[in-house]
Amino acid sequence: MNEKKRNKKVEESLTETTKLLQYKEINGQNRLFGGRLMEWIDEIAALTAMRHCGGLVTTCAVDNLRFKYGAYINEVIVLIGKVTYVGNTSMEVRVDTYVENIKTGIRRAINHAYLICVHVDDNGKPIPVKYGLEVETLSEKAEWEGALKRNIARKQRFNDGY
Ligand SMILES: CC(C)(COP(=O)(O)OP(=O)(O)OC[C@H]1O[C@@H](n2cnc3c(N)ncnc32)[C@H](O)[C@@H]1OP(=O)(O)O)[C@@H](O)C(=O)NCCC(=O)NCCS
Repeated sequence: MNEKKRNKKVEESLTETTKLLQYKEINGQNRLFGGRLMEWIDEIAALTAMRHCGGLVTTCAVDNLRFKYGAYINEVIVLIGKVTYVGNTSMEVRVDTYVENIKTGIRRAINHAYLICVHVDDNGKPIPVKYGLEVETLSEKAEWEGALKRNIARKQRFNDGY
C-alpha cells in the first residue's frame, strides 16, 4: 500500500494481553482507575509498534480514547493492539479493550483508542520505519482509510492549537 522495503502483516505485530482486575487498580467508585487503563493501553501500543518496526518507539499522540463502560473487581480485561497505518517515522496503533466473561468467553468492548508511536533511534530522534503494512482484509483496509482521515483531523486540530 505504501513504498517501503518490505511489508509486514498486521498479525505479525498483533499483541494481546490479559489482566485480572485487582483492588490496587480500583478507584473510589469501585471501578477500574482510568489512569491505569491508559497505562496499559500505552504499553501495549508501544509493544505493538516495536514489533512492527523492530526497534524503539515513543508515544507521540493519543486520540479517540473512549471509555464506553466501566470494569470491576475480579473481571478479566483483555487488551489487543494492532498497527492500522504506517507513515514515514510514525505508526498508528489501535488498542481495543474488552471485559471477558470467563463462563461464556464473550468479550464486551469497554474502550478503544488510537495512538501514534514514532520509531526513534537511541537518542530519541525519529527514524524511518523500515516496514510497510500489508493491508489484506476488509477491516484492515477500512482502518487504513480511516487513518488517512484521522491524520487530516489531527493536522487540523494541531493547526487549531490543540
Ligand atoms: C515524538 C517525537 C520524537 C516527534 O519528534 P518531532 O521532532 O516532532 O518529529 P516530526 O515532526 O518529524 O514527527 C515525527 C512523526 O510524528 C508525527 N506527528 C508529530 N506530531 C504529531 C501529532 N500531534 N499527532 C500525530 N502525529 C504526529 C509526524 O507526522 C511524523 O510522522 P511521519 O514521519 O510518519 O510523517 C518528539 O515530539 C518527542 O520526543 N516527544 C516526546 C515523546 C514522549 O516522551 N512520549 C512519552 C509520553 S510522556
